[in-house]
Amino acid sequence: MSFAGLSRRQFLERLGILGGIGAAYYGLGPIGLLPPANAAAGPPQINYNIGGGRHVVILGAGIAGLCAAYLLRNTQFKVTIIEPARQVGGRCLTLRGGDIIAEQHTDSHGEPFKPAVCQFDHDPQLYLNAGASRIPQSHSAILRYCRELKVKLQPFIFACRSNLLQNDQFNGGKPVPLRWVKHDLRGHIAEILMHAARDDQLAGFVRPENRRVFNQMVKYFGSLKESKQSLKYRGTRRGGYAKKPGAGPVRGTLRESFELNEILASGIWHTGLLSDMYLYWQSSLMQAEGGMDHIPRAFKKNLGANARLLLNRQAVGINRAADKVYIQQSGSGETLAADYCISTMAPPLLSTILDQSFAPDFKAALARTYMVPACKVGWQTKNRFWEEETEIYGGISWTKHMISQVWYPSHGFHSQKGVLTGAYMFGNSAESFGSMSNAARLAVAMAGGEKLHPGLFKQNIENGVSIAWQNMPGQAGGWAYYRNQPENPDYMKINEPQGRLLLAGDYYSYLSGWMEGAVLSAELAVKRLTRMAAEKKVA
Ligand code: ALA
Repeated sequence: MSFAGLSRRQFLERLGILGGIGAAYYGLGPIGLLPPANAAAGPPQINYNIGGGRHVVILGAGIAGLCAAYLLRNTQFKVTIIEPARQVGGRCLTLRGGDIIAEQHTDSHGEPFKPAVCQFDHDPQLYLNAGASRIPQSHSAILRYCRELKVKLQPFIFACRSNLLQNDQFNGGKPVPLRWVKHDLRGHIAEILMHAARDDQLAGFVRPENRRVFNQMVKYFGSLKESKQSLKYRGTRRGGYAKKPGAGPVRGTLRESFELNEILASGIWHTGLLSDMYLYWQSSLMQAEGGMDHIPRAFKKNLGANARLLLNRQAVGINRAADKVYIQQSGSGETLAADYCISTMAPPLLSTILDQSFAPDFKAALARTYMVPACKVGWQTKNRFWEEETEIYGGISWTKHMISQVWYPSHGFHSQKGVLTGAYMFGNSAESFGSMSNAARLAVAMAGGEKLHPGLFKQNIENGVSIAWQNMPGQAGGWAYYRNQPENPDYMKINEPQGRLLLAGDYYSYLSGWMEGAVLSAELAVKRLTRMAAEKKVA
C-alpha cells in the first residue's frame, strides 16, 4: 500500500519516524494528550421510537461497529452489520490454540504468506491479545460499556520494577532491572539540582521561603545522603541489592550504581524507562479476564433483535443515490440498500470503494491517512521462568532489539505455563518484520528474547505465533497516525459529515489505536444518525 505516492518506509522517513521506541513516541505522541472531542457528552440519549423500519448498514463488527449497533438496539431501525472476518472484534482479537492467522501478503521472496496456526494449549489462561490489550483508567467510555455488559476486568500490569532494560551499548549488553536505572537516574538528577541550589542557580525558580522545602523534596526524590554540607547520590536501597538482606546477621549489600554519563551515552534512558509516564500507560490499566475479545463478544451477545450480523462479508463498493446508500458485497452477497450506512473501515480501505458521488478531496484525504504497521509475537512457555528467576510479575521489558518489548502475563501467576508477548513493535521495524515469513519472524523474536533473558528464553519456549496487522485482511495497519493531529487538514476533512454515510472507528478520533476512540466515534455517529433521522434532513 502506498501513502500519497510514498511507500510506508518513505512515509515514515518523511515524518522522521525511525524504528525503535522513538517511533512509538512519535506515533502515539498526540494520543491521550488531548481530551476526546466529546468527552463530556456521554452516550447518546436515544429516542427509542425513532427509526420507522429504516435500514442502517454497519460496515465492520469491530468495537465501533458493534457499539453502534448496540446503541441502536431498542430503536425501530433495522440494522445489518457486515464483517469480512469469521469473528467479531476486528483488531480486538485474542488468539488461542487452533486459531488461524491468515495474513494476505507475499514475503520478501515473493512467496505468498502461509496461514499460521496458533499452537497454544487449550487452556483458558493461555492466549495472546493480538491487538487491543489494555484499557487505561482514563478511558471512561469503554470502561462504562465493560461495566454495563458485565465484562470482567482484571489489572493489566504495565510496569513491574523488576522488568528489564537492554541495549547493546549499556552494561556490556547485559539486561538490567528497570529499577536500577530508574533510581540511579533520579539520584543523579537530584544531585545536580542540589548543585544548582548551592550555586544559587535556583533564584527565579524557587522562592526564598521554599528553599528549605525544595531541598527536602529533592533529597527525598533522589534518595540523597548528607555529605560535607552537601547532598550526594551514593546509591539507594530503592534500586535493590547485589545481595539481599535476610535474617539475623545478613544485612544485604547494595548494588553498584551506574554513572550518569553511562546512562546518558548509552541511550538506555530512552529504552522504555519512562514509558509509564504517558497518561494512557499510567497504572492502573485493565484487561478483560480470559482475553480482550470478551469485550466484542459481550457487545455481540447484547445486540438487539433488530440487528443481523453477517460474517465473511466484505463491502466492495458504496454509492449514494437519491435518499439511499447502496453497499455492494463481495461474492454472491446481495447489494444492500441502506437509509444510513456507518462505515468503520480503515480510511484508506474505505477510499477505494467509494464511487464518484463522494467528493474527490474527501476520498483523497481518506486515502492519505497513514496506517501504522504494527506486529506482535506470542510465545507459549514451558514454565514461568521470568517469575522464578527474575522476580518479574507482569509488566514489560524493553530492548533496542527489533522486538522492542516483551510483555509478561498479568494473570496466572505461579501457574505452570504462560504466554509471553514476545514482540510488540510498530512503525518502521514493524514494516520490515511484517514482510518476513512466520518462521523468520519467530527466529528474530527468539533472538530478541534471548537478549533480555540470556540462556533462559529459548530453552523454555514451546511454540510461537506472529501477526502483522498491516497484512491482515480487512485491516490496513495497527491504527491511524495523523501528524500534528489537532490541525491536520486530512483529519479535519475525513471528519466532515457525509450525509447518510457516517464514519466511525478509532481512526476518526483523537484516540486512534484505542477502544475508547472506537466507542466515542460510534456514539458520535449514532448521535448524528438519529438527529438526521429525527429531522428527516440529509445533506
Ligand atoms: N493502544 C495501543 C498501545 O497501547 C497503541 O500500545
